[in-house]
Amino acid sequence: MDPCTLVIFGATGNLSRIKLMPALYSLEREGRLPDGMTILAFARRPWDRDKWVDEVSEMLREKYGEAIEETTYQRFCQRLHYFQGDLTDPQAFQRLRQALEGESHPGNVVFYMAIRPADFGPVTEHLGEVGLLQETHGWRRTVIEKPFGYDLLSAQALQRGFLKHLTEEQIYRIDHYLGKGTVQNILVFRFANLLMEPLWNRNYVDHVQITHSETRGIEGRADYYDGAGALRDMLQSHLMQLLTLVAMEPPAGMDAESLRDEKVKVLKSIRPITQNAVHAHAFRGQYARGTIDGRPVPGYLEEEGVPEDSITETYAALKLYIDNWRWRGVPFYLRTGKRMAEASSAIAIRFKEPPQHLFRNTHLERFMPNWLLIGIQPNECLRMEIQVKVPGSMEMRTRPISLDACYRSGGEVEGDAYEELLLDVMKGDHSLFLRYDEVEWAWRVVDPVLKVWSMERDFINTYPAGSWGPRGTYRLFDSEDQFWRHSLDLDGIDVSSEAF
Ligand code: BG6
Repeated sequence: MDPCTLVIFGATGNLSRIKLMPALYSLEREGRLPDGMTILAFARRPWDRDKWVDEVSEMLREKYGEAIEETTYQRFCQRLHYFQGDLTDPQAFQRLRQALEGESHPGNVVFYMAIRPADFGPVTEHLGEVGLLQETHGWRRTVIEKPFGYDLLSAQALQRGFLKHLTEEQIYRIDHYLGKGTVQNILVFRFANLLMEPLWNRNYVDHVQITHSETRGIEGRADYYDGAGALRDMLQSHLMQLLTLVAMEPPAGMDAESLRDEKVKVLKSIRPITQNAVHAHAFRGQYARGTIDGRPVPGYLEEEGVPEDSITETYAALKLYIDNWRWRGVPFYLRTGKRMAEASSAIAIRFKEPPQHLFRNTHLERFMPNWLLIGIQPNECLRMEIQVKVPGSMEMRTRPISLDACYRSGGEVEGDAYEELLLDVMKGDHSLFLRYDEVEWAWRVVDPVLKVWSMERDFINTYPAGSWGPRGTYRLFDSEDQFWRHSLDLDGIDVSSEAF
């Protein structure tokens, strides 16, 4: 791998602290960072290099505690540089160019935008104006965090701005979900095995649920979150990506373009939600005070920095149909929420019932159709629920059992999603990054919902922190026997959950 300079805009912020610096340190420990690579923090605070190194060591201690290895740490620190500058000041970018032309930095440069989405455009503009995006002395790549735009129109405008200074090849739109091993495993599970393929369609699948629930709140991010909300923050990006992986056709190959072509085909096939149908397809809610892990927690409106009349949703659920040969008529239910009862990301696929219930007249302990559960986090598993005979009884009694497999064997560890993604940028591999048309089609799906929600400003359903979301979301379901699959455990299926 060629050495490069990694410039991080917003290096003192949350993302850098929690994800980027720990990921880079971990890559250092594994000896996977290219020799000669440097990391240049671009930030406003009047710090020098020593102060920055101290800060980074704090960030690493927060994550790794005593497990920091002295020699790795010293090697890592040698890569660190600090550049004081204001993102809005064109002069700062002139100075940045001079700094990057100095001898201490390799000519290949990654610009990582760990900043507010509103700053993506202006920063790219400044970089372009001073010639920093031209590839005369090495390659130039930019990494853009999500959300890419605020809605369809703003995403289009942002893209137009980018294309004045960058080619699509130079842009890496990150969705860190694609860096998770269990998410990549969806592709392996589907396309390295033949077993499920004959069943993976409208003839056998009743519906699909994709859930990401969190127990944490907004963790001091009101500034960003209140303008975004759950639909933009999680659903338009991470959950929509999961949906494409579950629903896509086998790609022609595993190269970036073939993969992304298939994902775009799924997004293009999603039936548009008309404005009149928004209430039948979408549900939002906001957490009120409640209890998480036995501790009382404030409601969203009481969080620091949230306006007292905010109607930003912290819970969003959506029903989508994919109008293609494989999936026509199968509902895909997507939902996400903060301050929910459990932190869990999972895909639950419910199969149809057998054409005849041959065991209907015998004592059925509890009939349940087959489910396939793919646990993304924290429970990294594959689980299939099937009916079996209850042992011992004379009459034919059945009950569901679960065939379980853990994604990892004992002792196997996997790094954070950001580690692989950072390396992919340095290698120039776009497979796990979003192409512009993916982002645009994902916006097309949610745009009507955003429009209607932005007009309905006087009411939002609430749910107590620590619950499974607002009441009434059951109205999204197509039939009465469908219910949210809250738990991956058989014992944990809560029939009363149908009420939600
Ligand atoms: C981020 C969202 O993209 O993903 C956060 O902005 C969310 O609001 C986070 O908490 C969830 O990611 P993970 O990897 O912690 O599940």
